[in-house]
Amino acid sequence: MADGSSETKSSNQMWGGRFASGPDAIMEEINASIDFDKKLYAQDIRGSIAHATMLAHQDIISAEDKDKIVHGLDTILSEIESGAFEFSRRLEDIHMNVEARLAALIGPAAGRLHTARSRNDQVALDFRLWVKEELQKTEKALTALIAAFLDRAEEHADTVMPGFTHLQTAQPVTFGHHCMAYVEMFGRDRSRVRHAIEHMDESPIGAAALAGTGFPIDRHMTAKALGFREPTRNSIDTVSDRDFALEFLSIAAIAATHLSRLAEEIVIWSTPQFGFIRLSDAFSTGSSIMPQKKNPDAAELVRAKTGRINGSLIALLTVMKGLPLAYSKDMQEDKEQVFDAAESLELAIAAMTGMVRDMTVRADRMKAAAGSGYATATDLADWLVREVGLPFRDAHHVTGRAVALAEQKGCDLAELSLAELQAINPAITDKVFDVLTVEASVASRTSFGGTAPAEVQKQIAWWRARN
Ligand code: ARG
Repeated sequence: MADGSSETKSSNQMWGGRFASGPDAIMEEINASIDFDKKLYAQDIRGSIAHATMLAHQDIISAEDKDKIVHGLDTILSEIESGAFEFSRRLEDIHMNVEARLAALIGPAAGRLHTARSRNDQVALDFRLWVKEELQKTEKALTALIAAFLDRAEEHADTVMPGFTHLQTAQPVTFGHHCMAYVEMFGRDRSRVRHAIEHMDESPIGAAALAGTGFPIDRHMTAKALGFREPTRNSIDTVSDRDFALEFLSIAAIAATHLSRLAEEIVIWSTPQFGFIRLSDAFSTGSSIMPQKKNPDAAELVRAKTGRINGSLIALLTVMKGLPLAYSKDMQEDKEQVFDAAESLELAIAAMTGMVRDMTVRADRMKAAAGSGYATATDLADWLVREVGLPFRDAHHVTGRAVALAEQKGCDLAELSLAELQAINPAITDKVFDVLTVEASVASRTSFGGTAPAEVQKQIAWWRARN
């Protein structure tokens, strides 16, 4: 495409009327967004086709001009997709790159496309379409991650592992139950995604620069053609706000935070000291110097991506804070943050889905760890309440003494003799040993949402019906 580089210092061909000379090189450098907003080419062309079609339908432009415009836009789409299109920084952004090329292809009819619209509603449209599609992709990706967890949870509904608080052994749980905790988190992330799609499902095109237009446009028609539920209701708001982008980034930041906690657990679980899981070769790397090592790099990178995503959210919040209505060029800085966060989130979810699917769960190691650290102490205290009738605080005290004795002897609670336990509280009978195993402990946690395998199976079934 003719870039007209000989005209670098002449006035811009899009609004040359008012300008005697072109932009300074630095002005062009700070002003141009084409390097990143070319990502919006498909949305830009789709929006323009819907707009031109509506203009013709409303007799604002002729059917012949509309046909030329649509044909030209189709040509541009294939030029961009085949790599033949030459983007020009002098034309600032995707909107003007497309329009200038259209003029080169079809002549004066191209000049009619921008009737009753502005780049302000155009960019709001393109970006909204892009974010909406990205949210739809995120919804699918989260569904795949949830499915991977449901499979592992089902396999391990009764695999016992230590549950932690403060990363100290707390009570035995099942690995299936732990997996289902993540299903709940990613399930909420997905419902936030669905709500966000609903919030933003309004078409901006036709708000024009900020005040609407005097042309008899049909905004319901363009909204429908572009797959939106309805048009936006206030032209000033339409070109001013980027809360749909902020909502995407907030959702991404929360999901990334969930992912980073899982990543951290994977890092911990895969250490030789824990040994709860083994990562597949496909999701780990070796060391260039230490031959024995298998590093959880993918998990570490997922953990780190959270930093970028959170950074993008803060960056855009800061850009938007204090902007007067309506459009200001500050808002051009919205796209890179969202593009970068979207790419990071997509990668992080995909990598995590792969890791969860592929990892080997070492049930023997989990069970051995579940039995150590006096994980069934609460079961002993509960038993004293239930069977001996002690108040819980007294039962807590008796159990504390039993733990101290076991610690002193270097054994587990279940390894103390009945005589030793009776020396602490004479009402204890040998029935107590039934609750001191880790299996008995998890099986007893039958409260709704508890870790008993039967309860975990119920939650899996609930999610299967909704995934
Ligand atoms: N490239 C601009 C952006 O991303 C498009 C809108 C420009 N509007 C304007 N009035 N200068 O925000």
